[in-house]
Parts: sequence; C-alpha cells; structure tokens
Amino acid sequence: MERVEIYDTTLRDGEQSPGCSLNEQEKVEVAEQLERLSVDVIEAGFPASSPDDFRAVQTIAGIVKNSTVTGLARCLKSDIDAAWEALRDTENPRVHVFIATSPIHMVYKLRKKPEEVLEMAVESVRYARRFFPQVEFSCEDATRSDQAFMAKVVSQTIDAGATVINLPDTVGYDTPEEFAGMFQYIREHVANIDQVRLSCHCHNDLGMATANTLASIKAGVRQVECTINGVGERAGNVALEEIGVALHVRRDIYQATTRLRLNEIKRTSDLVSKLMNSPIPGNKAIVGANAFAHEAGIHQDGVLKNPKTYEIMSPSLIGLDAGRLVLGKHSGRHAFKMKAAELGAHLSDEQVNQSFKAFKKLADQKKDITDKDILSLFKQVEKASI
Ligand code: KIV
Ligand code: ZN
Repeated sequence: MERVEIYDTTLRDGEQSPGCSLNEQEKVEVAEQLERLSVDVIEAGFPASSPDDFRAVQTIAGIVKNSTVTGLARCLKSDIDAAWEALRDTENPRVHVFIATSPIHMVYKLRKKPEEVLEMAVESVRYARRFFPQVEFSCEDATRSDQAFMAKVVSQTIDAGATVINLPDTVGYDTPEEFAGMFQYIREHVANIDQVRLSCHCHNDLGMATANTLASIKAGVRQVECTINGVGERAGNVALEEIGVALHVRRDIYQATTRLRLNEIKRTSDLVSKLMNSPIPGNKAIVGANAFAHEAGIHQDGVLKNPKTYEIMSPSLIGLDAGRLVLGKHSGRHAFKMKAAELGAHLSDEQVNQSFKAFKKLADQKKDITDKDILSLFKQVEKASI
C-alpha cells in the first residue's frame, strides 16, 4: 500500500468561498479538529493577505503539533517573509508558493512573459528555501498550461529546492483521463521529479473533482489537497471525506492508505458546516443527512436483514452511530414494525396492520413523517380498539 498525504485547505481555499469566512477563534477550533482527524498538512491561511490571516496562521502554528502547518505565498519576497514570520516557530514549517503558468493567466492577469514567470518561480523557491525546510511550489492553472513549459518550470523549481510540486486544476476543467495524463507527462519529462512529492488540487466546476483526484493518485500523486465538505472557490474543492473514504472502501483499486482517523469525519463535517454557515445537501456523498438513510420498502427490508444489501460502508466508519430508516410513502411493513418497537409501542398484529394502513394514507399527504405523527397514529388505533 502506498501512503497518500492529506493536505487540508479548508482554512485557506475553503474560506475563500462566499459567506464562509471565519474569525480567529473559529479557525483555531477547525484546525484543532483537523489535527484530531489526523490530516498531514493544514493550510491555515494566506499570511500576507491580511493582518487577521497572519495572526490566525501564527496562532494555529503555535497550537497544532501533529500536523504540518503551512501558509500560502505569491512569488514575492514580502509574501514569503510574512509566511516565515507566521510559521517560524513550528516544528517543520512549510510554505506554499504559487504562480500561474497558463497562457491566459500569464498574459491577462500577470502581464508577464513565460521567461519572467519561470524566473520568478525559481527565485522565489530559492529564497523560500533559505528559511523553510519544506517548500511546496504550485503551477496555478496547470491544466490549461503548456505542458512542455510547465515541465521546465517544475524541473527548475526542484533544482531550486522545492520539496513538493502541486499541479492544480484551478478552474475544474479537466477530465480524469486528461488530469492523470498531465501527471504522467510531467513524470516522463522531468528528470528530477523523483526528488519531490507530487500533489494535486482539484476544483469541482464540472463535478469531476473526486474522479480527477483519484485518477491522479493512480498516476503517481502522493499528496491530495482538499477541503471538508468540498467548500472552496466557486463550485468548491474536492471533498476530503470523499477521497478518504473512497481510498478506504476501494483500497482494492487504489492500493493507497491515508493516516486519517475516518471516524472523526462526521464530527469535522458538522463543525465546518456550522461555523461556515454552509448547510450540507441531504444527498451529499458520505456526510449528507441521507447518505445512510433508507426509505424505500425493499431497501429497508434488505438493510434490516443485512445492512450490506444497500450499504457499501458502515455509518460507524465516519463516526455516525447508525444509519436511519426514514418512514415515508415508499416504506414497507417490516420497517414500520421496527419503528413501532423503537418508539416503545406494544401493538398487536392487528393494530400494526391498522396503523400501517393509516400511515400509508398520511404518507401520501405529508412529505416528512415525524415520530410524533407515528405515535399519534398508534394512539388513534389503540383508542379505536378499546
Ligand atoms: O486553485 C488553485 O490553483 C489554488 C492555488 C493557489 C494552489 O488554490
Ligand atoms: Zn484552489
């Protein structure tokens, strides 16, 4: 089994999503939970971007002991200096330096020629290595960059001292085959690539972030950048919980492990959702309220007989006590009887039959049937049979 490192950027890329900003105390709370979840790296912010971000990175760096803490920096000495001031007292400080390498970003955003971008990247990595034992370098918009140019940038930044090379799909544009192909190309065309850890960073604009990330692991990526609940710019980043659980459940395919404590996933997801005021859709993979809920009668009957009929993993894997049987218009008698027992109702077979009929009628009229509704049905049936 290969080890894949999990790099969480909830507090940097995730916090960039509209309405998701956190104060320092909230960031510390999230960082402590990420450490409990056992992520390898926490990107705590962008120290040069604001005094608040600087302070939050510095505070987190002083508290977190079991995960590497890092901060983002543009290819500017002043950004790298700010990152060093914020991170200098940590055990194994890392800075994350980036610059865009795609034609569209170089021409319109940076207004720089490729040679200038190359020089800025190399000089910045060399400068960062004067302070930091770990320097991650990212080619922003890698998936729309010329691969031969990017290979040159990667090779020379490795010579300048980069320890991690990250190739992001900044705009969520690639397909899994293309994304894996890009890493393959870089591995084949950069002679010193084995000196670094290769990293991916996927955005979800076309809903392919998870597939792209997993494809890149197959192509040799050994660090995944992700966020809790997939929060992040626009459609978000790849969701940490999806990668962690997919690697675990489909280890037969990916042959890779993480050091995540998967049973901390639900707690982490709830905390981030609450603090970022960002509700999780019911059908969200792994952490949505319905991810382990069963409503259809056939499904409920199957799960009651053997959960594996409709569950590919146990809810306890992510720290949930149990899945839920949701009673609705598709539910069957078996689940209804179980619910009655769960609610402490001692009904005869005849009473179960009568209340099940009444329940079906109610379910046709009402979307959400609560325990209170069901108890009131039982009461009516009991009254009628006196
Ligand atoms: O999406 C992106 O390219 C980024 C970089 C700063 C790594 O977030
Ligand atoms: Zn990003």
